[in-house]
Amino acid sequence: MIKIESNFSGKHLISLDQLDRASIEFLFEKANWLKKEYQKSSISKLLEGKTVSLLFFEPSSRTFSSFSAAVKKLGGVTVEFQNMMETSSTVKGETLADTVNVFENYSDLIVMRHPEVGSLKTASQASYSTPLVNAGDGAGEHPTQALLDLFTIQEQFGKLDGLKGLLAGDLLFGRTVHSLIKAFSNFDNMTLYLLSPKELRMPQEIIQEAQEKGLKLIEIEDEKDIPTDLHFWYWTRVQKERFESNEEYEKVKNKFILTPKLIEEKANSETIFMHPLPRVGEILPEVDKNPKALYLKDQIKNGLYIRMTIISLILNRL
Ligand code: NCD
Repeated sequence: MIKIESNFSGKHLISLDQLDRASIEFLFEKANWLKKEYQKSSISKLLEGKTVSLLFFEPSSRTFSSFSAAVKKLGGVTVEFQNMMETSSTVKGETLADTVNVFENYSDLIVMRHPEVGSLKTASQASYSTPLVNAGDGAGEHPTQALLDLFTIQEQFGKLDGLKGLLAGDLLFGRTVHSLIKAFSNFDNMTLYLLSPKELRMPQEIIQEAQEKGLKLIEIEDEKDIPTDLHFWYWTRVQKERFESNEEYEKVKNKFILTPKLIEEKANSETIFMHPLPRVGEILPEVDKNPKALYLKDQIKNGLYIRMTIISLILNRL
């Protein structure tokens, strides 16, 4: 995949592998500016005249509406297609390449979510001239989610170097954590604890690649082994839709639950609590009122600003 090298203009965004540290810092600088300007309400025409197609072959609430709001709030328009596995010409046997080529005629940019790992790469290779943004390719990656998560962490601590965090839950099928690890591996002296059931461990190739880049990764299998000096906890849902059978899913679901008691025992006064959502029981609602719980507030808000920034940069408006 083509590297971003601090220049998003006209490029696909498919994997965190495309971004180095300088590109992430460049994006965050722009996002910080946009967040401030947008709050003053002075840049609502940034995407005027631009059309972004949202092609979602898999269920989505936040990512879909966040992209949709991001475009519209900046004066662009969207062509929106959800549940494409049931309602699009895919049902008639149309290839992904054909779908992309058709929508290119209506779009300056295409945002796509698809159940197959690698499908966004395939789709981007089929595109004649329209940039594509990966909104989740099966158990592969989810780059915009990882970038908004990283931005949120950086906003809280003013830095990323030297931080320590926890990724918990389904690290095998969770695409947000795959992109996140790749993102973290650009920063210095970071340590991540990986808490998952044995069956749902982070894929070895992702671990190895990140370690080679200097990220310190420690796999644990018990909540007792969470150290008390972490800056962030990032919880995830067990990805039910990726299991062969419901039985397999039932065996490993909700093995680790974020509760006020666990916070009391293992967090410190600085620890922030994150989740990409949706949650399905792995964070108790009692945690929501904790001022350090960011999953229903900062992460969602920053998702909007990061997506506004990415789209504007790719479309050369920022
Ligand atoms: C995530 C996803 O779709 O990968 N959701 C999201 O986009 N915020 C996480 C999940 O579905 O568990």
